[in-house]
Amino acid sequence: MAHVIAVAGKGGVGKTTLCGMLIQYLGEKGKGPILAVDADANSNLNEVLGVEIETTLGEVREEIARAEMASENPIPRGVSKADWAEIRFNSALAEDDDFDLLVMGRTQGKGCYCYVNGLLQAQLAKYQNNYPYIVVDNEAGMEHISRGVLPSMQTAILVSDCSRRGIQAVGRIAKLIEECDMHPQRVGLIVNRAPKGVLNDGIKEEIEIQGLDLLGVVPQDDQVYEYDCDGKPTASLPDDNPVKKALHEIVDKLGL
Ligand SMILES: Nc1ncnc2c1ncn2[C@@H]1O[C@H](COP(=O)(O)OP(=O)(O)OP(=O)(O)O)[C@@H](O)[C@H]1O
Ligand SMILES: [Mg+2]
Repeated sequence: MAHVIAVAGKGGVGKTTLCGMLIQYLGEKGKGPILAVDADANSNLNEVLGVEIETTLGEVREEIARAEMASENPIPRGVSKADWAEIRFNSALAEDDDFDLLVMGRTQGKGCYCYVNGLLQAQLAKYQNNYPYIVVDNEAGMEHISRGVLPSMQTAILVSDCSRRGIQAVGRIAKLIEECDMHPQRVGLIVNRAPKGVLNDGIKEEIEIQGLDLLGVVPQDDQVYEYDCDGKPTASLPDDNPVKKALHEIVDKLGL
């Protein structure tokens, strides 16, 4: 069974950047194949990883739901509905050397998605047997996990910027994880974009107030910003980049 790692935190704190580097590092360590899941409706994990996306699960979900209602059945003769759904779901997997990327996307349109959600859940359950690691880049609300579409996680990595409000936000996410009975083995905090990689006393105090387990501190770094501006995948930064180095240390410490 896959070890599911979920990355969550307030908007814009660096979840996707760190998620991409985590996926890249696990691959480099020979822990692949990894299933990378972009569970943010505003998906951009593919850009950090440098892969092209053809379609999203949201689009496939719509296609299947539409097929349910269509008078002319688009399912090829001799193929069962479940098999066809599986083929279509698989088309939303973008493959790379060490990882496959699945983009949840958004679902527009009305109608009942219970049937297609059930299929999606079954499909994700199957994927759990094929990958040693599943890394999920989430929105703050962790919609897909809390609604049970995505499997529950073993490790939750909460990301915050170096601000009290960021720490308070992840404090609330930690409580949500508890309330939703997700029972991860580990819930840890990464403080990202710390000036010179150092935490000030106010932030340390807030981490204690929130009762969070600090995994490590990642510095603010210009090279990450430059890659981003140039449209280069940040996961491909050199290994001696300070953000990468700090993240690698955290991953090693977590024993992943
Ligand atoms: N350590 C860092 N140093 C400098 N810039 C960083 C660092 N980490 C992230 N960034 C930059 O911050 C911006 C937001 O990062 P990112 O998209 O990873 O955040 P996010 O939490 O996934 O955002 P969203 O909530 O919109 O999904 C990006 O431009 C990214 O390049
Ligand atoms: Mg993001």
